[in-house]
Amino acid sequence: MAVNQTKITTSELQAMKQRGEKIAVLTSYDFFTTQLLDEAGIPMILVGDSLGMVVFGYENTLPVTMDDMLHHVRAVARAQPRGLIVGDMPYRTYETPEQAVVNARRLVDAGADAVKLEGAVVPQIRAVVAAGIPVLGHVGLLPQSAAKYRVQGRDPAGATQLVADARAVADAGAFAVVLECVVANVARQVTAAVPIPTIGIGAGPDCDGQVLVVHDLLGWAVRVPKHARQYANLAAEMRRAFAAYKRDVQAGTFPGSAETVF
Ligand code: KIV
Repeated sequence: MAVNQTKITTSELQAMKQRGEKIAVLTSYDFFTTQLLDEAGIPMILVGDSLGMVVFGYENTLPVTMDDMLHHVRAVARAQPRGLIVGDMPYRTYETPEQAVVNARRLVDAGADAVKLEGAVVPQIRAVVAAGIPVLGHVGLLPQSAAKYRVQGRDPAGATQLVADARAVADAGAFAVVLECVVANVARQVTAAVPIPTIGIGAGPDCDGQVLVVHDLLGWAVRVPKHARQYANLAAEMRRAFAAYKRDVQAGTFPGSAETVF
């Protein structure tokens, strides 16, 4: 098991922005994937509520509960990665500052180093930060409240709102902010306008860092979104392995002598 003697801090992530060093963030929902992310030196690991879609098979993130998140944060934390573990706060678990603090503390008790809240929910962010819990903000497309998943910041009013939202999140004390599905030139403006790192997903190359859902990167998903780059084709490899196993069992060649105690 990895030993996190030198846990990455929010200040180190902010120093990376100052140095112009890009921040590579990935999601994880389980122990072994987290160990591998740690081996690769991933500095921030997001236990996203995207688990509702890629692990549970829901249409969207709305049905994900606190108990679901706690279960998966515990699995990720058990790998003791150096990277900062960010636990996503599910839909309707931070409707007031008080509720946000209670639920953020539960995620921290489960092993998260920080939490993520969607939207410019300034009173909630302030309250969680005041409780000593680092907050990752999230602006642009907000899957917990969007009626439709579409690119944000296309029109001037939308672009102005996005910059204002990111500034509000930074002023409220967030240590970094996710920009989801944002027109590239607006993401560039936001990145220049805020002192904290911007972590893009479908927001072009000029953010301070990038985040991908690990299933999309691995090709281990029903449908890989356009903004993701697929670095492996795990689904094809799994199909091959499952079919080969079935064939071997049916043919009586598994287990063979190597897998049998005589
Ligand atoms: O839930 C998630 O994985 C996220 C990322 C897409 C940023 O919020």
